Amino acid sequence: MYLTREQEKMLRGEYGWSTAKAMEIIVKVGEALGAEELVEIVHAHISGVSYSTIGRYGAEFIREIILRGGKTRVFTTINPGCVDYSGFSGIIDNSLLDYQRLIDDPLREAGVKPVFTCIPYFYRTPLPGEHLAWGESSAVIFANSIYGGFTNREGGPVALAAALTGFTYNAGLHLLENRVGRVEIKVNARTLTMPIGALGLWVGEEVKAIPHIRGLRGVQLFDLKNMLASAAASGNHALIIIDEITPMGTFRLDLTEKVEPEISVLENYLGDNCAGSNILGYIGCPHTTPQELLLIARLVKRHGKPRRGKLLVTIPAEFTRIHRDLVLELRAMGVDIAAGTCPVVSRFKEKFDCILTNSGKALFYLRRVHGVKVKLAGVKEIVKQLSGVQK
Ligand code: F3S
Repeated sequence: MYLTREQEKMLRGEYGWSTAKAMEIIVKVGEALGAEELVEIVHAHISGVSYSTIGRYGAEFIREIILRGGKTRVFTTINPGCVDYSGFSGIIDNSLLDYQRLIDDPLREAGVKPVFTCIPYFYRTPLPGEHLAWGESSAVIFANSIYGGFTNREGGPVALAAALTGFTYNAGLHLLENRVGRVEIKVNARTLTMPIGALGLWVGEEVKAIPHIRGLRGVQLFDLKNMLASAAASGNHALIIIDEITPMGTFRLDLTEKVEPEISVLENYLGDNCAGSNILGYIGCPHTTPQELLLIARLVKRHGKPRRGKLLVTIPAEFTRIHRDLVLELRAMGVDIAAGTCPVVSRFKEKFDCILTNSGKALFYLRRVHGVKVKLAGVKEIVKQLSGVQK
């Protein structure tokens, strides 16, 4: 692989042990993927930082590379941890707080912005064509598909290594020639009456090449966030080209196949039959935006507080400060708020019979992580069902 003089110096250890180790990781992964050079990045997003998920050995890897002198060289954000940083939630178990800090504290010292969220684009919106090194599949697919950023689906260690060097390998979706839509998906208006996570789960499972979706005009950005995250969870997608949304010049089309999902097919992705008395409503996978929080507040005001089960909403860690009034208003209405985490990377204090969620990604993982039944529903339907309003 061709390296510039600066990159060679990094690799030789002239910038310290941590930078050399980080450069070694990038170069090795890049060589394995056939990259001929590295590319400069403007934003790294580090995933795989929940103690509950990576455990002691993962925490030790992060601590060693940081505590031996690692400092970020570019704007760097971090994914959710396994604890509720606000201390507000009655549902999320915070017993691993001290262990989570073993990961968080050195990363903060290294210059990582402690947002603890899977929507890093909320803090720095990528420009079309900008190179990024992001972990977190839901964020990667959003950056590529909505903003035209150029990033692969990085694992946590590679994203961290990119943060410490300012470079990643130039392969995969960093090259325009690999950003080619092959399968046209036509979405009709009837399909859009269903929870949009079902469409995402179907795309992830059934479509293997890069899709080009038509018919999503007028769909809210937070619904696209949900759909894209769901497709990235059930499949390997990192880019879905959306007609009239994905910036021109950041993709090409060479369509060889055309599909139109039927409503009866998407119904198979709606999850389990949600019976039982102990139901949890969950909204916030990926984390909620302020626009979604306003929508939830409006719906709870209209339909009443959750009485027939609990309602959990997950948000970025900093929202308890920058959107404090809204967060406090939701709490006063009986909504359980957890900041900087989510149920997929943390533990619950209690058991639930079923989880009702608007997120296809949450459905995909919660069944596996918590062994619980999960059903997809729209945000309005979740609020109404929990407040006891009849359909
Ligand atoms: Fe984010 Fe957790 Fe979902 S990290 S995308 S809320 S699984």
